[in-house]
Amino acid sequence: MRLLEIAGLAVLGLFEVTVTATSCKPGEWVNLSSVPEPRQEHGTVAIGNTSIAILGGNVEKGSDKMMTDLLQIYDIASDKWRTASPAPYKVNHPNVAVIGRKLYLLGGLVEAPPSPGMSLNWVASKSSHVYDVSTDTWTALSPMPNGAERGSAIVGVYGEMIYLAGGMTVLQAGYQDAVDSVIAFNTTSGTWQRLVEAAAELPESRQHAVGGVVGDSLYVIGGRRYGQKNVRDTVFELNLADQGAGWKTSDARMPVARGGINGAAVGTKFYIFGGEGSPDTPTGVFNQSEVFDTESQKWSELKPMPVPRHGTQAVAVGGRIYIPGGGLQQDGKEVVTNGVTTTGKESAHFDAYCV
Ligand SMILES: *[C@@H]1O[C@H](CO)[C@@H](O)[C@H](O)[C@H]1NC(C)=O
Ligand SMILES: *[C@@H]1O[C@H](CO)[C@@H](O)[C@H](O)[C@H]1NC(C)=O
Ligand SMILES: *[C@@H]1O[C@H](CO)[C@@H](O)[C@H](O)[C@H]1NC(C)=O
Ligand SMILES: *[C@@H]1O[C@H](CO)[C@@H](O)[C@H](O)[C@H]1NC(C)=O
Repeated sequence: MRLLEIAGLAVLGLFEVTVTATSCKPGEWVNLSSVPEPRQEHGTVAIGNTSIAILGGNVEKGSDKMMTDLLQIYDIASDKWRTASPAPYKVNHPNVAVIGRKLYLLGGLVEAPPSPGMSLNWVASKSSHVYDVSTDTWTALSPMPNGAERGSAIVGVYGEMIYLAGGMTVLQAGYQDAVDSVIAFNTTSGTWQRLVEAAAELPESRQHAVGGVVGDSLYVIGGRRYGQKNVRDTVFELNLADQGAGWKTSDARMPVARGGINGAAVGTKFYIFGGEGSPDTPTGVFNQSEVFDTESQKWSELKPMPVPRHGTQAVAVGGRIYIPGGGLQQDGKEVVTNGVTTTGKESAHFDAYCV
């Protein structure tokens, strides 16, 4: 009997188990190969169960922070990064999703023309493109409808549909907005679709939140409105199979309200990490790690991030949550380390939380 079981597992192993170069115990963190250059405000997605892509964001070049079009792909089995064809435009806070072997880049924030006295001026783009992993090529898609453009949305994939909930249209030094509308891209027809009225707006605007689809539901967790410190602790849920029933707000609140968070679902649980705007840490970055069980509607606290970050996205593959790069300090906040003042710090650190 024992032998039979082992044989059965071996067969399963050949076809289904994701190979990983490093191992770690549940509840522990593991360090992985650093991202090729320090980067934050990028999009992160899994391609199948074998690789992870990071797209856009800001990279540091000398003392300058530059928006990038870089697409880099991490192979889980070999723990190695490679660079793929760049996106058609430089973008940060991109809205990204994968269906099959196609990576969708739907808007995001781009550089606005320089304005007098404005050090930072990012605005939403409605430009949308798809990257074919098999051919390493980009193709243009229908742009988002006028007025629907956004970056930093919560993205959920449900069958052929990609949902974008909330987001932001402008990010300047001292000024940012927050969006409450929810729109969808139909990857079969290649068109943008309006949701029914009850589903077309979040209960309240959000950007820099975490979310995604679990089962039939799209979740939007935490995030913020209008600024780094105007954080929220809510869980919003929309049943995508019954959109007429509209958005619901869970009675369960995050243990610590946060925005600039990253996280992903494993099974029916959302894992949420880090964030920016903490009044309690010298860097302004949160180290909190928490898990929300969508079935019991309960939150629990986990071991804090060993390298606390904000401004990244996480992705779950095979019971691990991968967190590439991110910011080590709250953007715009002056932090003095060994006599040197910085107002932002991109990281190349790459780690994973083991569920
Ligand atoms: C993981 O990387 C961080 C940051 O470089 C380092 O401080 C920590 O010691 C590393 N952990 C392990 C187990 O190597
Ligand atoms: C990835 O693995 C999960 C869990 O084993 C499985 O349900 C899913 O179909 C796999 N996805 C792909 C694209 O192979
Ligand atoms: C997506 O578009 C296809 C082709 O037009 C259509 O058949 C399908 O119903 C659409 N899906 C949804 C969920 O609206
Ligand atoms: C996490 O951050 C809190 C402040 O919010 C701090 O008190 C605590 O020491 C930090 N924990 C670790 C393990 O860094």
